[in-house]
Amino acid sequence: MGFNVAIDGPAGAGKSTIAKLVAKELGFIYVDTGAMYRAIALYLLNKGIALDDQEGFAKYCKEADVTIKYIDGIQVVMLNGENVNAFIRTEAVGNMASASSANPEVRNRLLSLQRNLAEEFDVVMDGRDIGTNILPNAQVKIFLTASADVRAKRRYDELTAKGEECDYEKIKADIIERDERDSNRAVAPLKQADDAHFIDSSDMTIEEVKNAIIAFCR
Ligand code: DC
Repeated sequence: MGFNVAIDGPAGAGKSTIAKLVAKELGFIYVDTGAMYRAIALYLLNKGIALDDQEGFAKYCKEADVTIKYIDGIQVVMLNGENVNAFIRTEAVGNMASASSANPEVRNRLLSLQRNLAEEFDVVMDGRDIGTNILPNAQVKIFLTASADVRAKRRYDELTAKGEECDYEKIKADIIERDERDSNRAVAPLKQADDAHFIDSSDMTIEEVKNAIIAFCR
C-alpha cells in the first residue's frame, strides 16, 4: 500500500486546490475522484438520462469506461478512451454527478479504480467517502469544510473571474442542496471518518490549510 492521504468534504470546501498543493509538496499523485463521477455523469447526460432515473444510471453507467492518466502531473480523465477534462466542470455535470453518484452501481464502477491507485502509488485522494469507505486504512484523513456562505462566495468569484454570469443566491442554494444530497444518501454518504482531522477553512488561507495538512503527514 502506498502512503495514502484522504481528503473528504462538501462541494466548494477547497479540497482539490488544497489536495493538489499537498500532493505537490509531498511528491505524491493527486487523485480527484469527483472528476471520475463527473465523467460518468457526462456520459449519462449525453445519453439523455434524467436526474432521477435510477434504472438509467444503473444501466448506462456500465457503458462508461473511466480511467485516468497523468500528463505533466495533471490528472486527465478518460471516458471510453476520450479525454473529457474540458467537459466535466459545468454546473449541469456537477448536478448530474451529485445525483448519479448516489446510485450503488455507479459507485461500484469506480471503487476498484480508486483503490488500485492508492495501493500502487503514494496518493492524496479527495472526494466524499475516501476516508470512510474507499481507503479506511489511509495513514492521514482530513475532513475539510467551510461555511456555505464562504463556499458560495468562492464559487461565485471563480465563475465571475472566468467571465461567466452567475447569481450568488442561486449558487448558495445549489451548494446547500448538493450538501443535503451528498450527506443523506444511503450509500457512502459524505461523513467525517472517526479518525479524520477536522479543518474548517472558512477563515484560513490556502497556505494555512496546506501547512496544517502537511503537519499531519510528517
Ligand atoms: O467534488 P466534485 O464536485 O467534483 O464531485 C461531484 C459529485 O460527485 C459530488 O456532488 C458528489 C460526487 N462524489 C462522490 O459521491 N464521491 C466522491 N468520492 C467524489 C464525488
